[in-house]
Amino acid sequence: MTEATIYQQILDYSNRADPYPLYAELRRTPVARQEDGVYVVSGYREIVALLHDPRVSSDPRNIPEIAAADAAAEETPEFPASFIRLDPPDHDRLRAMVMRHFGPPCSPGRVDGMTNRIMEIITGLIDDFAGKSQVDIVEDFAYPMPVTVICELLGVPREDEPLFHQWSQAIIETTDPTTGSIVERDRRSTQIRAELAEYLKGLLDVHRQQPGDDLVSALVTDPAVDMSQDELLTTAVTLLVAGHETTVNLITNGVLTLLRHPDVLERLRHEPDLIIGTVEELLRYEPPVQLIGLRRSALADIDIAGTTIPKGSVISLALAAGSRDAARFRDPDRFDPDRQDNQHLGFGSGIHYCFGAPLARLETQLALREIARRLVNPRLVSDPPPYRPNPGLRGPRHLAVEFDDIIPA
Ligand code: HEM
Repeated sequence: MTEATIYQQILDYSNRADPYPLYAELRRTPVARQEDGVYVVSGYREIVALLHDPRVSSDPRNIPEIAAADAAAEETPEFPASFIRLDPPDHDRLRAMVMRHFGPPCSPGRVDGMTNRIMEIITGLIDDFAGKSQVDIVEDFAYPMPVTVICELLGVPREDEPLFHQWSQAIIETTDPTTGSIVERDRRSTQIRAELAEYLKGLLDVHRQQPGDDLVSALVTDPAVDMSQDELLTTAVTLLVAGHETTVNLITNGVLTLLRHPDVLERLRHEPDLIIGTVEELLRYEPPVQLIGLRRSALADIDIAGTTIPKGSVISLALAAGSRDAARFRDPDRFDPDRQDNQHLGFGSGIHYCFGAPLARLETQLALREIARRLVNPRLVSDPPPYRPNPGLRGPRHLAVEFDDIIPA
């Protein structure tokens, strides 16, 4: 049997708890061709260059296997991709219209205006820890908070969560490069997104007739938003899924990292403003999105780091490896909340830079600040904790934490 390559070892579940030594080995060849023809990119400079290169497409239809399967199929599942999987000009057109209602200059209050409500949700969840000596940070805190926030922001009923949670999990699974072929994953993703969209369709009608204060109501009633029904639906699907599967992992990775660095946890209790640098450093040091795997492709031959990525190749960008590149970050394996010039890749870079970054930052800053302030003598029950299977969107499945008491809000 041939020995597993570094990339195969990274994908292997046994290395999920600590892939970072493997990323260091991977970076020795910053652009590395795999046996299956995928180009894995792990150097900071190379990742940034490709994220800004118009010859790199995010549209799966440009991947030759997917294009060939589409051409050969009698019937292909029909549901359009959202802007995360589109290239300009469609990407820019759709992103700009949605942004009108999410952030400055048109909607500066959409995210900031939620600060008090986010604090209220966090306070309620931590209040519920009272009388317990142990909680699961994932189930009892890091999952319910962002889910409630994204539901309220979009105008999706929170009580429907058990319904869309299944779809959301299934969509995330299709991003896992270890689960089936690229064509199978693409098909499954389209099918599940279409199912979730079917559920959201009814909601769009409700918001058209009785608009609320939420983002979906704003999108369906704004005459300047020139989007088809399917474009609206696919956008809502993406925001719902992206808005609740990533922040969970950042908060959980944050609690884990702070408990492994008690000096930083102690400082946070006295220097609440340190939370800003702490969350940025978490996005560099323990980012939820480790790989943007297997959806980008080369539209032309691309010369980079002494290698030519041939036209049509699939490109997997190891963001987490880039954010620990010693050529860009001093002492990259040290968790340093005082780090200056922290241009990490936690939210990507270039035209697809994370749309929800201001919301994710706000939620995580408030959540970790309150955990640091209110839990008395918190400690990990097991280290490392059990991880979810996905190597690309990585985070603990559970995080058991013991504590002595809760400080009142
Ligand atoms: C800690 C939490 C989050 C992390 C680590 C994260 C990370 C990322 C990354 C790395 C990308 C780039 C993907 C690529 O280049 O292909 C991205 C894009 C995106 N994110 Fe996030 N995200 C987070 C939270 C959110 C939230 C809360 C929302 C929604 C409210 C959101 C919505 C999006 C969207 C729509 C895109 C696509 C942007 C585009 O294609 O122009 N994300 N995110």
